[in-house]
Amino acid sequence: MTEKLTLIIDGQEVTTEQGKTLLEVARENGKDIPTICFHEATTANALCRICVVEVEGQRVLQPACIVKAAANMKVQTRSEKVVRARRTILEMLASTMDLSEAAEIQQMMYEYGASSSRFPGAERRESDVKDDNPMYVRDYSKCLLCWRCVQVCADDAQYTFAINFDGRGFETQIGTFFDKTIPETTCVLCGQCVGVCPTGALKPKREYLLEQGMSPQEISVLNSGRKRRKEKPT
Ligand code: SF4
Ligand code: FES
Repeated sequence: MTEKLTLIIDGQEVTTEQGKTLLEVARENGKDIPTICFHEATTANALCRICVVEVEGQRVLQPACIVKAAANMKVQTRSEKVVRARRTILEMLASTMDLSEAAEIQQMMYEYGASSSRFPGAERRESDVKDDNPMYVRDYSKCLLCWRCVQVCADDAQYTFAINFDGRGFETQIGTFFDKTIPETTCVLCGQCVGVCPTGALKPKREYLLEQGMSPQEISVLNSGRKRRKEKPT
């Protein structure tokens, strides 16, 4: 039988089972903790830090998506320090990347009063749209490196290992081995990476072409031409 434990969240005593994260316990008790890199389908990796909470006795804020609840813990999910940290993270993201299609993050910015112009001199991550396969396009100027796509492509779901981190420091981005095009990788075009991307960095090709002004008929003609080329004997 799983052992029970009691802790205090935002002044409220809550009882839970051993092994649960602070995020799980908070959500079970109706507390809203924002998340970005965390996704139910992927292993929590604590990369974005938007879920931080204040735990009494801990010097630094703790990422609720990986820290386990412990007996007698005193946790604050909305203290001034927490709100300031989340606001700053959002402002740093907004200063360095394109969040125009990240609806959930835009909502967080509104909620936390985050300004997109707090760091006006920040260098922005720029990238051309990579359009190299029939299923989806990649626009890494919208990528915040949450790693969800890499995880579902790897051992959290598909086991194809077609994409991974590439580069270092500010130059880090999601990429393929030796910068190969998607058709040259092990990618099976399952679309799971597109499904978990929170920012629109990965987008279905059809949606992209419609946004570019192509009509559904033009897209059909493009697709049938591509299909014919594929079927043509060599
Ligand atoms: S492409 Fe999307 S899912 Fe992948 S790391 Fe970037 S933001 Fe996350
Ligand atoms: S959601 Fe917890 S660190 Fe990103």
